Amino acid sequence: MKKPRKIIIDTDPGQDDAVAILLALASPEIDVLGITAVAGNVPLELTQKNARKICELAGRPDVAVYAGASRPLLRPLVTAEYVHGKTGLDGPDLPEPQMPLRDMHAVDFIIESLLSHETEEITLCALGPLTNLALAMARAPGIVPRIREIVLMGGGCFEGGNVTPAAEFNIYVDPHAASRVFDSGVPVTMFPLDVTHKALTTRKRLEAFRALGNRAGRATAELLDFYERFDEAKYGTDGGPLHDPNVIAWLLQPEIYRGRQINVEVETASELTMGMTVADWWGVTDRPKNVFFVRDLDADAFFDLLLARIGTL
Ligand code: BDR
Ligand code: CA
Repeated sequence: MKKPRKIIIDTDPGQDDAVAILLALASPEIDVLGITAVAGNVPLELTQKNARKICELAGRPDVAVYAGASRPLLRPLVTAEYVHGKTGLDGPDLPEPQMPLRDMHAVDFIIESLLSHETEEITLCALGPLTNLALAMARAPGIVPRIREIVLMGGGCFEGGNVTPAAEFNIYVDPHAASRVFDSGVPVTMFPLDVTHKALTTRKRLEAFRALGNRAGRATAELLDFYERFDEAKYGTDGGPLHDPNVIAWLLQPEIYRGRQINVEVETASELTMGMTVADWWGVTDRPKNVFFVRDLDADAFFDLLLARIGTL
């Protein structure tokens, strides 16, 4: 087997973040160097605790979890308890974590990891607002050319926004950080709403998680049962979109996705369209093609992958 791919997961769990973490920890092709928490779906106190709960659920209390930014670069924090519940992980009854939170700040961990590994050895997987990544790049610009790739969930184009008509949550919460990351020169692969809205947690798929029979399978079904209720009501679909695990699935099975290398810029000036990802899908500008924008997936293959891997935990 090839050497496992080294990643850092930057995250704001969140039920869908939790499933992404489970997928990564269940996959031998991936070496999770650490998990860095950021404020987003719920405040930092909860996201760092939730990340540890999920590591323990995966049977991996050895994974290093770090707390990072408690608020966006310039704007006040906006959270999403109306989607994720008060704890951010409403649904299953997960015990308080016993594993420690590491002492180091998440931003320092990102910087030190990149400096102490080979150039282009580490992939950054971002599942929440991009505050930690932008802070690391600002504090230590020397890390930028050392990053292999940034794979992130965020933004939207044809699908519009989910927190305002124009903006998706992760980008809206910290548009200044997102703008910095998109313009950094690091290869970015982006999973916008255009693709994640095609990955629906239908009844049948949730029953398959429940039927796995292990704790992680049952917890996944309970997490997603809670999580989908908001989007099902909003979109009138069978199930809600499962956003963040696509970032990890991409590392494992890129062939299930389709996209295009295009220019994407982030709106940071207009209040009306704040955090909008302006995606030049049709190539109508000469702006640099800075992002691989994923637009389609084989949803059955994606859920098959999740089931197979979470079933091993
Ligand atoms: C994104 O926002 C959060 O609510 C989810 O965890 C996902 O990362 C979807 O817009
Ligand atoms: Ca998230």
